[in-house]
Amino acid sequence: MVIKLETVLVEIEGPVATISLDRPEKKNAMNPQMHADMNAALDEIEAAGGVKVVVVTGNGDSFSAGMDLEECFLRPYEDPMLFYRTNLVALRWFKRLKAFPAVTVAKVNGFAFGGGVLVTGICDLAVASEGVLFGLSEINFGIFPAGGASWAAANNLPRKQALYYILTGDTFTGAQAQEFGLVNRAVPAEELDAETDRIVAKLVRKNPVTLELAKQVYEHNRATDLPAAIDYDQAKLWELSRLTGNEWINVALKQFEKRSFQPGLSTYRR
Ligand code: ACO
Repeated sequence: MVIKLETVLVEIEGPVATISLDRPEKKNAMNPQMHADMNAALDEIEAAGGVKVVVVTGNGDSFSAGMDLEECFLRPYEDPMLFYRTNLVALRWFKRLKAFPAVTVAKVNGFAFGGGVLVTGICDLAVASEGVLFGLSEINFGIFPAGGASWAAANNLPRKQALYYILTGDTFTGAQAQEFGLVNRAVPAEELDAETDRIVAKLVRKNPVTLELAKQVYEHNRATDLPAAIDYDQAKLWELSRLTGNEWINVALKQFEKRSFQPGLSTYRR
């Protein structure tokens, strides 16, 4: 299924949805229409049901040059309510994408500035081409990374690197982003699709409920101490068992009992 919105293209093929930012002539700068379209894209994917993985990428030669500086900031600024509402639509899909039930994978090419770093950082996984240029350019026009961009830097880069790029506005490459941990892999540009497909293929073989709860458990564990984490994990494991009809016991571990797969090296057959 293909859904063409004004500035975003959504393709849903079984368990995989691909959202492509689609303003290539503006390096996929995110204008108010794109923010509305991104919320609509997430609505469509939720409504389709059964999507396990969402790939977020950019059409043309760029992932995203970040917020549209003219349409989101410069023009609405004189009217505080317009400015507030315009940006609220953006913040809404950033929060939704971060908490999205399916696994989210950023596939990053070309440029990724400001909001582009943010989206890469809030996705669960990310693959970039080695030559991509990332940048927190906010300081270069007089502000600090906001709307989740500082969060993305603080949660995906080591402290000194985050502060360096926040404070200088210098760019860093896809290869450096892999070193810092902002992306899982940086590959030559011609391998970007294949590398992303390889990761997606692994994910779609897993139970979607397990993927969803694994994300929740990870996020909760980051934010809490060990005793609270253990209690939460226990409760979530019961929830998982109930929601999946005990698939891990009845299917996966039965296969292990018959020595038909080695969990350390592969996944069970669903
Ligand atoms: N907002 C609005 N328009 C943009 C943006 C943006 N963030 N980025 C690019 N564009 C526009 C350009 O102005 C240009 O428009 P025009 O054809 O009407 O002149 C068009 O997209 C193509 O961009 P060029 O600058 O011609 O492309 P080039 O390859 O030379 O440079 C680059 C690309 C480096 C991305 C440059 O456009 C740039 O610096 N953009 C701003 C990046 C930025 O700082 N983004 C904000 C991040 S902070 C945040 O997201 C909150």
